[in-house]
Amino acid sequence: MSLLPATEFARRRQALMNMMEPGSIAILPAAPHYKRNRDTEYRYRQDSDFFYLSGFPEPEAVICLIPGRPQGEYVLFCRERDREMEIWNGYRAGPEGAVADFGAADAFPVTDIDEIIPGLIEGRERVYVSMGAQPLFDQRLMGWVNSIRARSRAGLHAPGEFLMLDHLLHDLRLFKSSEELKVMRRAAAISTRAHVRAMELARPGMSEYELEAELMHEFLKNGCAAPAYNTIVGSGANACILHYVENTRVMQDGDLVLIDAGGELDHYASDITRTFPVNGRYSPEQKAIYQLVLDSQLAAIATVKPGAHWNSPHEAVVGILTEGLIDLGLLKGSRQECIEKESYRQFFMHRTGHWLGMDVHDVGDYKVDNQWRELEPGMVMTVEPGLYIAPDCNTVDPKWRGIGVRIEDDVLVTKTGSEVLTQAAPKQVADIEALMRR
Ligand code: GLY
Ligand code: MN
Ligand code: MN
Repeated sequence: MSLLPATEFARRRQALMNMMEPGSIAILPAAPHYKRNRDTEYRYRQDSDFFYLSGFPEPEAVICLIPGRPQGEYVLFCRERDREMEIWNGYRAGPEGAVADFGAADAFPVTDIDEIIPGLIEGRERVYVSMGAQPLFDQRLMGWVNSIRARSRAGLHAPGEFLMLDHLLHDLRLFKSSEELKVMRRAAAISTRAHVRAMELARPGMSEYELEAELMHEFLKNGCAAPAYNTIVGSGANACILHYVENTRVMQDGDLVLIDAGGELDHYASDITRTFPVNGRYSPEQKAIYQLVLDSQLAAIATVKPGAHWNSPHEAVVGILTEGLIDLGLLKGSRQECIEKESYRQFFMHRTGHWLGMDVHDVGDYKVDNQWRELEPGMVMTVEPGLYIAPDCNTVDPKWRGIGVRIEDDVLVTKTGSEVLTQAAPKQVADIEALMRR
């Protein structure tokens, strides 16, 4: 069962139905199982949109939302109870449970969907779906619509319009409720502890995967089903590989290690990066780069407030990093030139953040009418500047080469400014060094 109350899911369904056009139906399939190899599957993870509206954790299920349907607006198709299958593979709610425990007005065995769902679609003008997300499901949907068309001479009416569900649903998901924020704060607290644990235990001679194991220990021990994305533990020059996930290198005295890791709690992600010295002391060059990234990150977080636009943190970061890189002799030219020509991009090649929620790179538009979106209370975003000086970068003094730093926090836009959900993970040089000396 979800940590969220049933009323939260009911409220979301109602909010979506309030936004749907008259005479419409929304149809969403559960996530499929994914094969890992031969007869082994990845652990099941429900589709975020599907879970957002239902809290229903099982595969082979379909949600129908039908505003105004007299017999009930929320219909769920799911697997039937089956003693034999439940002994092998685990508990199933069954249609009975879908009604009793998950708020469905009506529920049917998913094996009967081909007979029942055309009757739910028939007479509706518009169908909201996430076209393209599951092509096999799109085909089945067309089959159901065609079965209605084939009976048009009997007076049956097929829908005339298909609409993308994403616009409405993803705008709802962008604004986090107080119930969601409770879960996100917990995910952030667990992930914060995981980073602190990695700082406490790191030492030269350890393999990167040993730190990954310590992070996993905190995630799983505290109720996260999994990391929200593949954990990055990049030591030495591996910190310059943005999506490094091999985590196999033995960490050396004098290395920095960049850890980008967050747990997923009840389908909500956290996303934290910290970069610290494996031996507990930053070298002067490492400290200079680190402090620059930190200064830019703090300035970026300070821009987060209602009315600022999505790109404000990124603009703050680009200005500060560029100026700092010029001061350190890593970039040549004026601040304005380096920004206009984007020469800073050889050291900072990604953007400063993304929306955060059930998906680590969460849904929601970044622009509205081709303008950067205004920040509003309830939005959660990451702020994650970095600098990566490739080990073979021959335009800079060799002392800088192979240094990679990223600092990432999760930031909620509040009525008056922002709340850093991951504040408790140390990031000041002195705090990290003090923690590592203990
Ligand atoms: N860990 C993925 C990201 O930071 O965007
Ligand atoms: Mn990250
Ligand atoms: Mn991120």
